[in-house]
Amino acid sequence: MEGSHKTLGEFIIDNQMHFKYSSGELSRLINSIRLAAKIVNHEVNKAGLVDILGSSGDTNIQGEDQQKLDIYAHDVFMSALVNREIVCGIASEEEDEFITVQGKHNAHDNKYVVLIDPLDGSSNIDVNVSVGTIFSVFRRVTPLGMPVREEDFLQKGSEQVAAGYIVYGTSTMLVYTTGHGVNGFTLNPAIGAFYLSHPNMKFPKTGQIFSINEGNYAHFPQGVKDYIKYCQAEEDDRPYSFRYIGSMVSDFHRNMIKGGIYIYPTTTKAPKGKLRLLYECNPIAFLIEQAGGKASDGYRRIMDIEPTELHQRAPIFCGSLNMVEKAESFMQKYP
Ligand code: AHG
Ligand code: MN
Ligand code: MN
Ligand code: MN
Repeated sequence: MEGSHKTLGEFIIDNQMHFKYSSGELSRLINSIRLAAKIVNHEVNKAGLVDILGSSGDTNIQGEDQQKLDIYAHDVFMSALVNREIVCGIASEEEDEFITVQGKHNAHDNKYVVLIDPLDGSSNIDVNVSVGTIFSVFRRVTPLGMPVREEDFLQKGSEQVAAGYIVYGTSTMLVYTTGHGVNGFTLNPAIGAFYLSHPNMKFPKTGQIFSINEGNYAHFPQGVKDYIKYCQAEEDDRPYSFRYIGSMVSDFHRNMIKGGIYIYPTTTKAPKGKLRLLYECNPIAFLIEQAGGKASDGYRRIMDIEPTELHQRAPIFCGSLNMVEKAESFMQKYP
């Protein structure tokens, strides 16, 4: 495959000139994520052999059962990022409050904040189905020299400087953007290096896969119910195939390669949606737009939503441009 001899490390160095503030810090940040991804990958791969399956017995601030691997992945990404003194703050799905990183000599002069879903698809861990990690990076908005504040994290998605995910699947891939397209790297586990396997990834303009938890059908808004019926109708290139893994990262990754739409709408049980705006929707939206697709909440662009709280949720319709626009047209019949 094209470009397969280039490693992620080489790619980062080659592309450093793209970074707006080219001090090398963003490159080092991506390098830290690369390292943490390898460590988590190693643990996920042997999860059935060591005592890391199942619940930790705790719940997170969103009321979800924390799995042992949720906490393990959180800890690995935290220490990879904190110990390198690149970021000034981190927020995680698994931590109630954001974490302040002081930097060298307590100077608070690191520039980037990271928001992370350390382990996406927790419900799939115990059954040996793909899980992932999602990350989002912003430049701080408060002045250097002071501890980060909440406003550094509550930025609109359109302000992201980098975002990406790792999918721990049949092979492990790291896919990311710094605003200059989307590139995917596959881990060669024998030598522990990521190689550029999917250069300049593009979302097909249309597709034939729809992904939504249809078990919640009775609780969906009417626009979503109508769109599902449209996907199932025998007309033109339909019915579409239905595919739903239950790990957003994996569902998204498949749809980006094959063409499709992923929807997690509001439901009567989750009136604000389920997925987290800052840890899941925004980074996925940045990747989608960079790959030529679309991400909306049914009515407006995900990356234009002004966040008001760290663990805020949002409904999401994302994927192939034509499919998302079609789904929006159904939603917009019920403003
Ligand atoms: P997480 O495991 O990080 O809490 O995320 C779970 C999310 C997402 O990965 C997945 O697509 C979705 O929840 C599945 O939800 P349902 O089981 O309600 O379909
Ligand atoms: Mn969770
Ligand atoms: Mn998740
Ligand atoms: Mn998670």
